[in-house]
Amino acid sequence: MTGPRFTDLVNALPATVPFVGPETAERARGAPFTARLGANENGFGPSPKAIAAMNAANAEQWKYGDAQSHDLRAAIAERLGITPAHLVVGEGIDGLLGYLVRLLVAPGDAVVTSEGAYPTFNYHVAGFGGTLHKVPYKDDHEDPAALIAKARESGAKLIYLANPDNPMGTWHEAAVIERMVNEVPEGTLLILDEAYIEFAPDGTAPQIAADDPRVIRMRTFSKGYALAGARVGYAIGAPTLITAFDKVRNHFGMNRAAQIGALAAFNDRAHLARIRAACTTARARITQIARDNGLNAMPSATNFVAVDCGGDGDFARSVLAEIIAQGVFIRMPFCAPQDRCIRVSLGPEAELDAFAAALPRALKAASAKI
Ligand SMILES: Cc1ncc(COP(=O)(O)O)c(C=O)c1O
Repeated sequence: MTGPRFTDLVNALPATVPFVGPETAERARGAPFTARLGANENGFGPSPKAIAAMNAANAEQWKYGDAQSHDLRAAIAERLGITPAHLVVGEGIDGLLGYLVRLLVAPGDAVVTSEGAYPTFNYHVAGFGGTLHKVPYKDDHEDPAALIAKARESGAKLIYLANPDNPMGTWHEAAVIERMVNEVPEGTLLILDEAYIEFAPDGTAPQIAADDPRVIRMRTFSKGYALAGARVGYAIGAPTLITAFDKVRNHFGMNRAAQIGALAAFNDRAHLARIRAACTTARARITQIARDNGLNAMPSATNFVAVDCGGDGDFARSVLAEIIAQGVFIRMPFCAPQDRCIRVSLGPEAELDAFAAALPRALKAASAKI
């Protein structure tokens, strides 16, 4: 018995997905968390209209979803002033990143990202045998100039940049990204991951023609619209690039009720405004909790706040472990120097109360271990 004959590429990969979810941690600790503030989900919840639409759609789950996501694409196109041919809908940004990397990255191809940036992109690049070239953050921001320089030097096919950024929550103004687009080398595609754009201040989303062949923008219903479990995202790009997704995408990948729920959520602009207001309050609260404990919170254009624990990565890891042990699920950046921080998602007041109670005890316990 030889067993399955994996490719050399797969044999060389570690069997570790980048996201270890709270349910896994709950099973490991043998108890549920009291606060779920670690995955940048949106604990304020989806539009009631989206919930009603999904409930109504459930009776029709015997049907496959619309493989073209026609209605959702039409609504997004109309709002953005583009055509549906500039849009592909997929299983969240994560799913779309996988398809895009599959379209463009062959074994050995160079790809550029930032050290410590969103890891799922790296996971897909590794899965198709690409070679990652990384540049450091600059002052806790992803560094557009360094990303461009590295792409030139390495002949990269792809550059990945999230604006606003995860895990630091920092952001660049539109003009910075517009200048970056003008510097993208010939033959390179910039992936602009705008997962958190709904939380960002006005003036963060750059003006980029949807036909521009140098950029693909990705957005999601997981964050601002609070539908992370529904798995709906979209990419905006030139029609030739968008059409290429039809060579590889999973045509039954979209859940029917999720498509319907996303459309209802997209049309409920009043709910999005309420979410943004709740997030402004929660962001201020986390900043204040940090301050009350003598810590510094990073400015954030996202639905989470990175809190500098004032020590090194080991100290922050120790604080994190102590907070999790108290039943509060949060996470932290992977790489130095960003790993001096813990990362706390914005959430309802009761969950932030739990964080506020856990933090001073965790700091005390972590300090005692130094
Ligand atoms: C920068 C960034 N991109 C993409 C995602 C995943 O988005 P989706 O749920 O649409 O796959 C996340 C989730 O945390 C993220 O932080």
